Amino acid sequence: VLETFLAAVGAMLLGSIPFGLLLTRAAGLGDIRAIGSGNIGATNVLRTGNKKVAAATLALDFLKGAVAVWLVSAWFGPHLAPVAAVAAVLGHCHPLWLGFKGGKGVATALGVMLGLGWGVFVAAAVTWLVAARLSRISSVGALSAMAVAALVALGVLPLWSGVAVLLIAAYVFLRHEENIRRLLAGTEPRIGAGK
Ligand code: G3P
Repeated sequence: VLETFLAAVGAMLLGSIPFGLLLTRAAGLGDIRAIGSGNIGATNVLRTGNKKVAAATLALDFLKGAVAVWLVSAWFGPHLAPVAAVAAVLGHCHPLWLGFKGGKGVATALGVMLGLGWGVFVAAAVTWLVAARLSRISSVGALSAMAVAALVALGVLPLWSGVAVLLIAAYVFLRHEENIRRLLAGTEPRIGAGK
């Protein structure tokens, strides 16, 4: 029980590091929460016009997810990897230091998927790239990737890892409530459209 608690708290704290906010601030681009969608993720950082900072946000938000799963697996055993995966994404979406108002979890979810099983990550990443490219809309890429990831994970991963990916995918959908509303209204911005 103690190990589960430590794994969950550790992964959550790692997931809580708001790289989008920290990097945009460090680059002198202002408070990312006052720009575009107000989200702290890479998609919104791209709206500052700085592609390098956006790419760094994507990479670090992704890595913290993968590292959380790897560290917990190494320290406490792979049986707690699903706990770490869910906790890291929850940490990103609800960081302690930002009044629990964080991101939408896409990059971190892809990271924990790599930690749980690279096949699921590859399926999700390819889906993200294809769907985002075809639609030119980041949230369409993200939501398509999450749906595919959940299906693949339930098929190929051990039961609890599959369940973890399903929960994460469902939560990422919930975090995209506003995006889904905009998509249905036809007002969701395209990648590179500024706002
Ligand atoms: O992953 C975030 C992306 O799907 C949507 O971000 O800033 O357009 O709400 P944003």
